[in-house]
Parts: sequence; C-alpha cells; structure tokens
Amino acid sequence: MNPFDRAGYTVAAVRELLGPVAGGALARDEIVPALRATGGGSPLEALTRLFWLQVPVDEAGLRDCADDLVARGLAERSAGELRALLHVEPLEAAGHAGYAVSDLKARPGAGVTLRPDHVVGAGGASANLAQLVVHRDVGDALDLGTGCGVQALHLAGRARRITVTDVNPRALRLARMSFELSGLEGVESLEGSLLEPVRDRRFDLIVSNPPFVIAPPRGGLVYRESGLHGDEFCRRLVTGAPARLNEGGTCQLLANWLHVDGVPWEDRVGAWIREAGCDAWVVQRDVQDPAEYAELWLRDSVEAGTPEYAARYDAWLAYFEQQRVTGIGFGWITLRRGDARPAVRIEELRHAVDQPVGAYVDEILTGAVQAEDFSTACAKDGAPAGLRVRAAAGLVQEQIGPPGAEDPERILLRQSTGLRRAAGVGTVEAGLAGVCDGTLPLGPLLDAIAQLTGMDPAQVRAHAEAVLPELIADGFFALA
Ligand SMILES: C[S@@+](CC[C@H](N)C(=O)[O-])C[C@H]1O[C@@H](n2cnc3c(N)ncnc32)[C@H](O)[C@@H]1O
Repeated sequence: MNPFDRAGYTVAAVRELLGPVAGGALARDEIVPALRATGGGSPLEALTRLFWLQVPVDEAGLRDCADDLVARGLAERSAGELRALLHVEPLEAAGHAGYAVSDLKARPGAGVTLRPDHVVGAGGASANLAQLVVHRDVGDALDLGTGCGVQALHLAGRARRITVTDVNPRALRLARMSFELSGLEGVESLEGSLLEPVRDRRFDLIVSNPPFVIAPPRGGLVYRESGLHGDEFCRRLVTGAPARLNEGGTCQLLANWLHVDGVPWEDRVGAWIREAGCDAWVVQRDVQDPAEYAELWLRDSVEAGTPEYAARYDAWLAYFEQQRVTGIGFGWITLRRGDARPAVRIEELRHAVDQPVGAYVDEILTGAVQAEDFSTACAKDGAPAGLRVRAAAGLVQEQIGPPGAEDPERILLRQSTGLRRAAGVGTVEAGLAGVCDGTLPLGPLLDAIAQLTGMDPAQVRAHAEAVLPELIADGFFALA
C-alpha cells in the first residue's frame, strides 16, 4: 500500500480536515486558514500540508513513509524537513479514484515560477471535461494531451484500453506516476503532437482538454498554449479527430474560439464542424472580452503584480487587436462519427445544466439526428401524419398571463432535468406534449387537437411540421 492510501489521503478526508472556511480560502489560493486546520501532526495532516499546501513538514511526522516519498521522487529531504517536489492531489474520479501527480502549484507570492514544460494539475477545466464525457462503456479510448493523467483516471473502468498522448515528455512521466500511485495498469503512453502519435489508429472515444489558450507568440507554457496561431489547435483537433474514430465513435473536447469582428462565432466554429463532417454538438458556455481574457491567463501564470505585467497585458491586447478579435468563446465540442448526413447543433448555453452532462450527451446528439430525420420524412412524404412521437419525461408546462385571465398570453414548456431548456410554444405543441406517448401516430393526435381547438386540421399539421424539428432537436419530443 502506498503512503497516501495508508494515511487515507482522499478528497473526502481532506475536505473534512479543512472544513468549509479553510477549503474556501484555498480555492482563493490563501493557505493560512488551511495551515491552522492541519496542525495536529497526523500523517493525513502532514501529507496535506506537504503535497496540497506545499509547505515543508517535519520529517518525524512522516517517519514511516519518508523514504518511500523520496524514493518515488515526490519529496526531498532538507535539514530534518521534507519538501514536496511535486503536487499530489487525491482524485474523486468516476472511473478510478486515486492521485494526480503534477508540478507544484504556482500560488501568488509563493515564489514558484512556471517552467515552460510545467505539468498542470487537475483543475476546473479537467472536471468540466470529465463531466461532459459519455458514460457508456467503450473499447479503445484516447486521452490527447493527458498532462497529469486525470482524464485517463476518469476513463478507467469504462474503457477496455486507454492510450494517453502528450507533446511534453515530462507530462507523460508524471501521468505514469499518477497511474502507478493510483494502481491503474496497462495504460499506453505515446509522445507527440496532436493526432500524430495515433495517425494509424482508431478509437471509440477521444477526449481532450487541449492547450486551448489563445495567446501572443511569446507565451511558451505548453500546458495551456500550443504555439499555433489563434484557435488553430482546436480547429486542427476538431477537423482531424473524426478520421481517428471508429464508426459510432465520439470525440469530446473543451475549446476556445475567437470572435472576430463581423464574423458570427457560429460560422467560424461551424466551418470546423463542416470540415469534420460528422454529427456535432457545440456549446458556447462563456465569452470574455480580450481584456478579461488576458487578465485571466496572466493570473493563471501568476504574472499579475510582476514588473512585466503591464507589458505582457499590452502584448495580449495588441495580439487580439491585430486579428480584430472582439471576444473569446469558451465551450464544449462533441463529435460523433456516423454513416448518415451529419446532424449539427451549435448553440450558446449560459445557464446551469444538470451535471454530469455525460449521462445524457448521447440523447442530445440523437435528438439532433432525429430532428433531421423528422424534416426529411416530412419533405419526402409531405406530412408528418404517420410518424410517432413522444414527449420527453419531466416536462413542465407554465401558463403566463395576468391573474384571472381566461387564456394565457404565453405557454412555456420547461425541462425539469438535463439541459433544463424552456421553449415558448403554441396550443398545438402544448396539446401534443400532454397526449403523445409514442403509441399513436401524429396524424390522429393532431386531428384531435384541431377538433378540440376549432382550428383547421391542415393548418395544425402544417404548424406541427414547422415547429417539431426544433422541439425534437431541443429534446422536448423524441421520435418513438
Ligand atoms: C490543459 S492541459 C490538460 C491536462 C489534462 N488532460 C487535464 O484534463 O487536466 C493540456 C495538455 O496538452 C498538452 N499539449 C500541449 N501541446 C500539445 C500538442 N501539440 N499535442 C498534444 N498535447 C499537447 C500539454 O502538455 C498539456 O499536458
């Protein structure tokens, strides 16, 4: 058993040890409350201080495992103390809980400068991607740009074989340390850029939290910047990944994209997706203006407050200005290789959605495909009468209007789970949502609604044909 397992160094134990106040302060990179909370001298407290807070600890407190920690290259001895050489973080991974080994965190004022080949630990973006990734079991999975190996740990147990790649050999070395400490065996690791190390291979699942940060040329931090111009790395990954997928395979990545003056972002990313030529769901979760973006990443590399800060900040702004950049979008991209005409959904979703999205991401892509099928069937047969449709589970109807009014001014259908979308609908769709469970074809249902509302049956059918594709794509209805 390794020292971390023995001491019970788990997310839950560290969270309990720190409590909400010290935990909250740590999230703001303030360690003083956490130091007060970990002064008891137990092995768990000592490991938390050493590897999470990154302060030296008295060797006597870790007497049983000091040799082991030094032999593993995780810590060094210095005048009766142990100092961490690497950051070791317990992980609550869906697939394989364990430990992520990365370079020491650079906290403001801690005097740690980032080396160009810095290996970043599991952070917010890593968790976002892990929540997006499909939940079903797969055969061959690829984690492109594995860093500390966190995504591979999440995939373990769901993927029969896992391959990890990184352009940074140091990252591959630390990822192997993560796997070893976590008891995860059989992971193949390949060095190289983008899809080059797997150029002759195909996978059922490709995941990537890539170096998506769009920075002026003199950045040089490999964990976040690819060295390619603008958002070119994400474009190459999106356009190249489908050829590396098996039929039905999925690729999921986080991405940043430029908002260029006069070019809708959907068109820019849409062009990548057209070139990818497969089913796709693209979600923009946030947009920052160039100044916010530069500040975010200068804080990330602990450059805020340094003498070079103003010049660096100015360089980012100049870089964006040259390219007529008005903003930078943050989002998720899911691609699925199918054999039919690609169904594509590109949208902005800023509100909170049910997590993990990976539990229902397949349904979202299926909705996009079914919306296409519905429109195709209508175009071919002229009417949707023979199709069977069912309303999604968990829909809620809201009627909006002045108190006491006989008829509502607006009707809303709202999803109580999943993406929690809301749609303004008319009487026909609201009526359908109440009755269609997939057993009867649409024709008789629409005729019954026409009769009840006194509307013209032909108009009701034409209306359903016009509005249902979007409602199917949005997951309010599905083809039965
Ligand atoms: C943001 S980190 C992601 C680490 C980890 N997968 C996660 O989810 O937290 C991006 C990783 O991509 C790697 N990387 C940078 N440029 C690359 C390239 N051209 N090809 C492959 N990987 C690259 C970096 O070394 C880094 O480990």
